[in-house]
Amino acid sequence: MDLLLWDKKFSVHNDSLDAHHKQLFELCNEMFKQIDQESKTPVYSTAKVISELHMYAIFHFAEEEKLMEKYDFPKLDEHKKLHQGFIQKLAQLKEQYESDDVLVDYDILNFLSDWLIYHILEVDSEYIDYINE
Ligand SMILES: [Fe+2]
Repeated sequence: MDLLLWDKKFSVHNDSLDAHHKQLFELCNEMFKQIDQESKTPVYSTAKVISELHMYAIFHFAEEEKLMEKYDFPKLDEHKKLHQGFIQKLAQLKEQYESDDVLVDYDILNFLSDWLIYHILEVDSEYIDYINE
């Protein structure tokens, strides 16, 4: 079972950015699977996924910001701040998981998946008309 299912409504009408968003969903789904098998899964597995999510989000946000910049998206600064906040949160989670004293939990996963869903549908959707001119 997956936590996040890709659907056309998530499309920002840009193949490359859609592929990135799908990959972010996949990483959340992977983390969901780790949590599902909590008793059988060593903590390092989740730390690894969080670390991948952190790295991939940095890569993806940079690509997205480059495009928004290229097309003079007016809310670029605001958008960048939201990205930075998410990266900070992921960095903090990564540290916590790597230090081994935090157990995986659904609240964190829900926070991550809710953030992504909201961000793509409500925030990323604002740049669609700009970057696809
Ligand atoms: Fe974004």
